[in-house]
Amino acid sequence: MVNMQKCAMIGCGFVGATSAFSLVESGLFNEMVLIDANHDKAEGEAMDLSHGLAFTQPMEITAGDYPDLKDCGIIIISAGAGQKPGETRMDLVHKNVSIFKQIIPQIVRYNQEALLLVVANPVDILTWVTWKLSGFPAQRVIGSGTVLDTARLKYLLGRHLDVDPRSVHAFIVGEHGDSELAVWSSANVSGVPLNEFCELRGYEEHGKNRQLLYEEVKNSAYRIIEKKGATYYGIALSVRRICECLVRDEHSILSVSSLIQGHFGLTDLCMGVPTILGSKGVERVLDIGLNRDEQDELLRSAAALKQVLQGIEL
Ligand code: 2OP
Repeated sequence: MVNMQKCAMIGCGFVGATSAFSLVESGLFNEMVLIDANHDKAEGEAMDLSHGLAFTQPMEITAGDYPDLKDCGIIIISAGAGQKPGETRMDLVHKNVSIFKQIIPQIVRYNQEALLLVVANPVDILTWVTWKLSGFPAQRVIGSGTVLDTARLKYLLGRHLDVDPRSVHAFIVGEHGDSELAVWSSANVSGVPLNEFCELRGYEEHGKNRQLLYEEVKNSAYRIIEKKGATYYGIALSVRRICECLVRDEHSILSVSSLIQGHFGLTDLCMGVPTILGSKGVERVLDIGLNRDEQDELLRSAAALKQVLQGIEL
């Protein structure tokens, strides 16, 4: 039996360490194991995080190794190279697939029951690779997908319309990367169709504004990486939100990446689409309604992912 109050973070770089911090703050877990190829780095992070425990809910944070995964309910994998300025997420594919070829068999050796949460990039490709290499049921292999991109869109729309981003309902779907798309056709602000809400706020040029917002979402990571070398706070809070859904069996809907098998007429790839998440992992991938243009764009995004998957040897 695994313990859903125990998680592990494999990879203690910027994303791993910041996600670990957000999880300590969340109070979701009573045990967290940090693993890194550089054990000193994992130890240093475990010490540093533990020094905040006088201000948080009690938990045990340790630097460990693969045998410590034995009873973990959730194993988060952030290990791998990150983007450098000018690099795309896909440019990381070969480097990070070979890192995953080392990591995944080690996980499976000690734990075959956990939920695996992939955060490293290109996340959709690595989620598929994790599913293949682990032999786990697809339900238990989840990638962070377009959860962060969706959060970026909600933030930007919220700022544009001067409303709380949590009242904005809209999704970015497809690849977490250059071919992603916004599902504008069903976007709304607390039930008010997006165009109507925009008009309420005095905006009429819907097409132009949508394009600007979409470009800003799509290029966010590039802009941040140019300015500060990496992105980690947004993804860390996305990891926290995904873990909340899993640990609390929330049945909330997030655009995580998981195996697409028969949805939208597609098979055998992972990408981000609205998905019901609970304690067993993926409860259901939703075939949300898309207009004709969105359908075409989703198929294009899937084709871009498929092309990369075809070049991967496992
Ligand atoms: C991000 O979107 C780089 O995938 C990372 O922030």
